[in-house]
Amino acid sequence: MIRIWNTVADWRERRRTLAGRSIGFVPTMGALHRGHASLVERCRQENEIVVVSIFVNPTQFNDPKDLRRYPRTLDSDLALLESLQADDILVPNSSDLYPNVDRFRVEPDDSSRTMEGAFRPGYLQGVLTVVLKLLNIVEPDRTYFGEKDYQQLKVITDMVHEFFLSTKIVPCPTVRDNLGLAESSRNALLSAEYRKKAAQLFRVLKTAADPTEARTILEAEGFAVEYIEERWGRRLVAASLEGVRLIDNIPMGTCASHT
Ligand code: PAF
Repeated sequence: MIRIWNTVADWRERRRTLAGRSIGFVPTMGALHRGHASLVERCRQENEIVVVSIFVNPTQFNDPKDLRRYPRTLDSDLALLESLQADDILVPNSSDLYPNVDRFRVEPDDSSRTMEGAFRPGYLQGVLTVVLKLLNIVEPDRTYFGEKDYQQLKVITDMVHEFFLSTKIVPCPTVRDNLGLAESSRNALLSAEYRKKAAQLFRVLKTAADPTEARTILEAEGFAVEYIEERWGRRLVAASLEGVRLIDNIPMGTCASHT
């Protein structure tokens, strides 16, 4: 039976009853898709208790318009989580998670001011801050993140290490549709025509000789490219189509130029 917790205090009472059980955690902002489902499935296989949070975190949006139009689909999210046999769902409200609004933040150093850190000021701080809060509330043994948000995964892994948090971060592969488009909550905002076109992001990442060539091809196809970089053994991109911001990355070993 799925249990839904709207306050940190109620969840903490439940958490006390789970002492000694292995806890897996999947933090999300809702608008769940097959990518999230794969995280929850893996979490289900590896833990006695599966906890999922649904919280559209305001501090990680640098653009209020983006926050307003972020898809919110709570009823279908809960139905999906029930079908995946999740146990506990945290749906806190903002004032409970941020009692003093924005008084404290986790601030990564300048090495994070590239890619997402450069193009979305405040985004990584917002993510780190809410993830630290959630990890302290949930106290999971394992926490699951998708590799699609690769820089996010990297900074969270580093924070967990630096702050001696005891959870193990489990990276999970990106889930793609049949055309190769990475599953993402923002894809829901694309029209059918542009969804097909968006899949070119993955194809070009794979086939371009280098980031400069990838940028040229994508811009010719109508993408507004923010960055294409190669780091951590991966090629990473952020680009918008039809006003929808998409990010993706692949291991360098799967790029045509490196095989
Ligand atoms: O990847 C996401 O959905 C969010 O950035 C996260 C990790 C749930 C923090 O709000």
